[in-house]
Amino acid sequence: MGVEIKVDGLTKSFGKQVIWRDVTLTIPAGEVSVMLGPSGTGKSVFLKSLIGLIKPEQGSILIEGTDIASCPERELYEIRKLFGVLFQDGAMFGSMNLFDNVAFPLREHTKKSESEVRNIVMEKMDLVGLVGAEDKLPGEISGGMRKRAGLARALVLDPEILLIDEPDSGLDPVRTSFINQLFIDLNAQIDATFLIVTHDINSTRTVPDNIGLLYHKHLAMFGPREMLLSSEEPVVRQFLNAQTVGPIGMSEEKDADELEAEKDLEMPPLPPIPLQLEPSSGIPRRHQRPPGEWCKENGVTPPPGSFESTTAGAIGA
Ligand SMILES: Nc1ncnc2c1ncn2[C@@H]1O[C@H](COP(=O)(O)OP(=O)(O)O)[C@@H](O)[C@H]1O
Ligand SMILES: [Mg+2]
Repeated sequence: MGVEIKVDGLTKSFGKQVIWRDVTLTIPAGEVSVMLGPSGTGKSVFLKSLIGLIKPEQGSILIEGTDIASCPERELYEIRKLFGVLFQDGAMFGSMNLFDNVAFPLREHTKKSESEVRNIVMEKMDLVGLVGAEDKLPGEISGGMRKRAGLARALVLDPEILLIDEPDSGLDPVRTSFINQLFIDLNAQIDATFLIVTHDINSTRTVPDNIGLLYHKHLAMFGPREMLLSSEEPVVRQFLNAQTVGPIGMSEEKDADELEAEKDLEMPPLPPIPLQLEPSSGIPRRHQRPPGEWCKENGVTPPPGSFESTTAGAIGA
């Protein structure tokens, strides 16, 4: 359950501006992946490309044998039924209460009776912890609740792939922790493929099975969480550990003088790899791997103190 997304050689420009080139990665079925990157690196453009809203000039996006980047509109319409999407702004209809907002895709795309619609909406409202708020208008609730409602709506057609754009933008750290826990709990229950776009390093370190980093018009790296969190590659290391020493400057890349001035500075040691967030039920997710497994299998010594229960979410704490 959940389906794989195989991206190969993807390149997107707007006019003369290249957004990213030659992006190649396979997002594994049923796993939780995070795409990280500084603002403006084309994370949202990447998500929109995956559902065919934006057409890259080169490369392919294979989902169940269909190439999203080149298939006709009719096939795209079918393949889109596999997706649930939570856009950055939540995209709620302001004049509709939460119930009607969540029910909207069911009323548009299915012939279900109103009592079936009610059952499905209430089931999804329950999944995201919003039972009791059905009659509220989007403007009457907090940003965190709006994201949950957007998530409930993304779930009503039982997606195989869930795309989520910056769920943590505008949320305080506590609300962010709650929504992160919700993703892990949801993944355990529905087993869909999750792709979460964010620039939040804390979430990236603790939530996903896999991490990708978009930086400077290309995909710097994509792979298992432990691979990126133990990586010595300067850009990956600097970004995932929120360090100032490294190739990334205040505005994109540092210039030659800045790098020269830094060349004798040592990068600080890698912080411990925190434990991955687990479902609150205590029952492991189908794709959850034991802590340290990737490091062991690949002969990588994790930084001291990794995978101790006290290190969960430790960075910046
Ligand atoms: N429809 C569009 N037309 C032209 N430029 C666009 C369009 N959508 C996004 N861009 C540009 O692409 C770049 C990446 O945008 P975006 O994907 O929103 O970044 P991110 O989500 O990583 O912050 C930005 O420079 C933005 O201005
Ligand atoms: Mg964005």
